[in-house]
Amino acid sequence: MGRMRCFIAIELDPDTRERLTELQNQLSGIERAVRWTRADQLHLTLKFFGDVSDADVAQVCRIAQDVAAQIPAFDLIVRGTGCFPPGGNVRIVWAGLPDPPPELVACQQTLEEAYVPLGFPKENRPFRPHLTLGRVKDPGLSRRIREAVQTHESFSAGSFTASELVVFQSILSPKGPEYTPLAHAAFRPAC
Ligand code: 2AM
Repeated sequence: MGRMRCFIAIELDPDTRERLTELQNQLSGIERAVRWTRADQLHLTLKFFGDVSDADVAQVCRIAQDVAAQIPAFDLIVRGTGCFPPGGNVRIVWAGLPDPPPELVACQQTLEEAYVPLGFPKENRPFRPHLTLGRVKDPGLSRRIREAVQTHESFSAGSFTASELVVFQSILSPKGPEYTPLAHAAFRPAC
């Protein structure tokens, strides 16, 4: 039985991708310490499954569609920058969504609960919505990275309307991940 690594995310609109790419370009001096996320791969993860067996993939996609259909489309505001974890060696440089709308929070919580019967436990960590701009290759440069990121903490990418979830397959390789959409799950039209 085959398995595939899967996650559910919200894709970004072209303007937001462009502003985040500009931000990545402005984080100068740390280029070689960070593996930057390609513009077409920037996304907001809501649920990470790890491996899903081939037999469960269709059900995983169907549940995402059922959950999304209950939630009206909503706007997301992308603002601020930071690092994970907040202290010590940096693993991730991110752009933030500091005031997540109630629909986003409800969507994430509903997804967490909806997959428990399929055997995917709820995430222990609190939901910290973020867009991963890059992953750190050289943790020895963590201080320099934090300083560079801090100078852009007032970054703002404006807002866009989230109209669907996407279930992705992620294939990891030495060249970096490849994300393939498996299913689209539309939110209810906003009133
Ligand atoms: P990240 O951006 O915070 O690293 C595809 O790999 C997506 O799934 C990424 O956005 C990543 O979130 C998330 N992801 C990868 N591994 C994960 C894990 N073990 N737990 C939670 N999310 C994970």
